[in-house]
Parts: sequence; C-alpha cells; structure tokens
Amino acid sequence: MNTQSNWLRSGKMLSNKTIVLGVTGSIAAYKAVEIASQLTQAGAIVSVIMTEAATEFVTPLTFQAITGRRVVTEMFDLTSEFSIEHVRLAEAADIVIIAPITANVIAKLAAGIADDMLCCTVLATKAPVLIAPAMDANMYDNPITQDNLSKLKARNFTIIGPAWGRLASGQAGLGRLADINDIIGAICQTLGKNGDLAGNHIVVTAGGTREPVDPVRYISNRSSGKMGYALAEAARDRGAKVSLITTLASLIEPIGVDIVNVNTAQEMYEAVRNVVPQADALVMAAAVADYRPASTAKDKIKKTDAGLTLKLELTPDILGSIKGDFIKVGFAAESNSLIENAKQKLQQKELDLIVANDITATDSGFGADNDRVAIIDPEGNIESLPLLPKREVADKVLDKVAELLSGR
Ligand code: CTP
Repeated sequence: MNTQSNWLRSGKMLSNKTIVLGVTGSIAAYKAVEIASQLTQAGAIVSVIMTEAATEFVTPLTFQAITGRRVVTEMFDLTSEFSIEHVRLAEAADIVIIAPITANVIAKLAAGIADDMLCCTVLATKAPVLIAPAMDANMYDNPITQDNLSKLKARNFTIIGPAWGRLASGQAGLGRLADINDIIGAICQTLGKNGDLAGNHIVVTAGGTREPVDPVRYISNRSSGKMGYALAEAARDRGAKVSLITTLASLIEPIGVDIVNVNTAQEMYEAVRNVVPQADALVMAAAVADYRPASTAKDKIKKTDAGLTLKLELTPDILGSIKGDFIKVGFAAESNSLIENAKQKLQQKELDLIVANDITATDSGFGADNDRVAIIDPEGNIESLPLLPKREVADKVLDKVAELLSGR
C-alpha cells in the first residue's frame, strides 16, 4: 500500500489555500476530523462550518484544535457581528467541501433553502463546491435524493462518492463517505483544473514490469511506482487529462486519473501504443524489464538437483520504439556514470527530456519518498535538484513539460 500521507502526496498544491469544510449530522462526521487534519498538515487554511446536527456527533472544539481556527456553528448569536462570518468565508474560500453531507442538507441546497450557516455560505460563494454524501443506502438510492443530486450536479457541484461498504445500520451498501484520499485528491484536482497543463493529455507509466517464469513466479525489479503515481497526481492537479499505465494494483489509485493495469513489458508497450496517438506527452517512469523468459512454463517448475538455467530474450523498448507527435520524457536510474548514461539514453531514444536518478544516493531512488535527480535536455542543459519529495520532483519535471508544450 502507498503509505505516503496526503500532505506529502499533494506537494505545495494545498499550501495557503482557503478551504471551507462543511460538516453535517452524519455518523461519518468523525471522518471530517481526519480530513481537516490532513488539509491543515498540507498547509491549507481550513475553516470549519458545522450544522447543529453535526455538533451532536463531534464537538467544535475538536475541529478548532486541529485547524487552529474558530469553528462556525449555529450556536452563535445570529444578531452578532459573527453572523456575517459566512459571507466573509464565502468570499475568502478557494473551495468549499461538505464532507459528509446528509440527504437533508442535499435537499436544502437543491431547493435553495438557506436556513443555516452552512447553506448560507454555499449560496453566497463563487468558489467551486464539492460534496461527499454519506447516508443509508436506501436513502441514497431514493429517487428524491437522486433528483436532488442531479440538480446540484447541473449547478456544477462536484459529487464525490459515496463508496460501497458497511453502513451504520450494519448492512452493506452504497452510502459510505468516500475514501479520504479521494476527497483530498478531488480537492486538489478542482483547485488545479485551470493549471498550466489544462487541455493536455499526459500519459504516465509506473512500476516495474513482471515477466512470468511460470504460473507462480516472475522476474521484476525494485520499482515502487511512487514516482509515476506522483507524476500522475501532479499532472492531474495542473489540469491535465491523465492516463496512468501501471503494473501496481496495490498503490492508492489517484482519483480523476484513467488507470490501465498491465503486468508485462509487452502489455505496457501495447497499452502505451493504444493511448499515445491522442496524447501530448509520454512520461515513462516505469522500470521496464529489458529481458523476459523466452518461454513461460505452463506448470509450476519443480526443483531438481541439476539447478535451473533460464533463457531470456529482449522485451520491446517502449520509449525507444514508439514515435509520434508528443513530448517524450524518460527516466534513467543509474548506479554509475549517471549523467553520461542518461545523456546517451536521451539521444538513443530521441527524448525531449531525461530525468537522471542516482540510485546510490542516500534516501533516494527505489522505494524512497524522496529523490535526488538531474533533468537533462537535448541541448545538454542540466538542472540538478536537491533531495526532494517525489511529488516535488514530479512538479519540477512537469514545469519543463509545460514549457515544452507551450512552445509547440
Ligand atoms: N524503457 C522502455 N522500454 C524498455 C526499457 C526501458 O520504455 N524496454 C524506458 C524506461 O521507462 C525509462 C528509459 O527507457 O524511461 C530508460 O530506462 P533504462 O532501463 O534506464 O534504460 P535501458 O534502455 O533499459 O538501458 P539499461 O537498462 O541498459 O541501462
């Protein structure tokens, strides 16, 4: 599982963004505490507005302690100056997210009823509004709720979830609050939708390919896939349409990204070839196996005293062989002669950029959350970066991709 927390995964995306977090009276209200905490850790200015019902589930003090900011509730005297707080928040907000939102508050918003601080804020804001429903599965399924959600969707509200799973009733169904990673991912995607990659389609590959030896064994490498996932999330958060071709089903799937799961180099080659004709850039962060077993045994290979020799054959060189009218970015993970080897690959594979990664550097490379890389272009310019979180490396690479795309 990708253990990277959202504050690391979102990079600088949320830093200093004003986020209004509305919390309504659902059993899932306790999960809003974690959302507030993760957004605050990521550098956002989080102002929480709670409905009266929400305060039955979680205390305002909890949110106040976590966000370091005053929490707006219905308990404030509506005749005091604090009653116009919602107007100030509505204006200051970069985004409003209501998580969880109940069927009742969905109905009120769909009808334009503004009889509490939260609904007043939503009606008064020009910022994008995201809602993450949480309720009983039958309530969610009810045509009245569905109609109300359709109305809000038609008004440009973004609806996240709900997810399928165990509900407060003890039954399983569609009605659980969406995963927190999806909620935070959707916030980042919405905030960045007019970013410098808007209108571009970026294809990213991730993970080490797996070349089968027999039904239970494969040849692979130590790639964690984190760099590719960081690139996919960063491109999404700059407005791009993103296709992520990955060998790893175990990492947290980024919301808002088209995911294609593959295993072998051959499958990755075919998946890339299918999608690049419509793409503006291909970023090959995957560690593609250079060799695969010449044949795959149908049955599990049995141990013998004679030992075992595997005959290997070359896999297709994806980056080297797929050509077209798109920006090509490669990665070179090297243990020696970093810059020379990377430059050679840049030339041989006719790339627009190569990211050279010294896998012998401490805390960098395979499996680490950080990388120390140099970005090299065909003119021989080298930008050597310090040790940075993978998301920040991804953004530096995409700065160059955006520059190249804008120059086309
Ligand atoms: N690559 C590819 N297809 C392959 C092998 C590599 O598309 N069959 C891509 C990688 O995704 C990476 C770049 O080419 O972006 C360089 O990968 P690397 O394994 O370092 O290069 P190789 O050409 O395989 O050279 P070597 O393994 O000899 O260092």
